[in-house]
Amino acid sequence: MQKYDFIKSTFDFSNAPSKRFVKIEKKEDLLKKLKDEISNIENCTLKNNSNNLVFADGDHDSSIMLIGEGPGQKEDEQGKPFVGDAGLLLKKMLTAINIQRNKVYVTNIVNYRPPENRKPNEVEINTYAPFIKKHISIINPKVIVLMGSVAMESLVGINKKISSERGNWKEIIVKGKTYPIMITFSPSYLLRLPENKKYSWEDLKKIRQKIKELKIKI
Ligand code: URA
Repeated sequence: MQKYDFIKSTFDFSNAPSKRFVKIEKKEDLLKKLKDEISNIENCTLKNNSNNLVFADGDHDSSIMLIGEGPGQKEDEQGKPFVGDAGLLLKKMLTAINIQRNKVYVTNIVNYRPPENRKPNEVEINTYAPFIKKHISIINPKVIVLMGSVAMESLVGINKKISSERGNWKEIIVKGKTYPIMITFSPSYLLRLPENKKYSWEDLKKIRQKIKELKIKI
């Protein structure tokens, strides 16, 4: 017979009489399962044309979750999001608001590099949408930052322009839970069009302010 250690237990009581114990899975295990699920995806052009699954990076217990668009060449080579020039810029952006990159959790909408760094198409965005939603639920952050139009389209909806959607706090509901989101430009876009960095700075200041308001320790 299985024994439960109530002091160090990973089991919680449930009020339901037929289910006295509900197993609470650890984040690490849930993330591993999700990663396996993504790696088992079939008939995906992105997966078939890339080298590595790019899952996530950073602190999975962080209250801040950053979601980019998809891996580029360096990310595909290293299997990590936001390395290379976009990663360097992201680090600078976070440093500007006193956040160390390893204190946040970073992932992307699609987990395999689109060929030639093209934008993922609607079918691809939809294919990965259940995974990013699951990812959000597992991390359960207090604040989500969506970086780039693909992130916005996947989680907020298509037919929107990032230039008009960015810079204001909005909310999304994922699996019944509401999360505050800030839509902002992606570091890759800012590398191509640095004149937009002034808007990005406005968004970053709002993120800093929200962290203060929500008393998030970072
Ligand atoms: N690198 C990533 O991992 N994601 C982006 O959106 C851009 C660069």
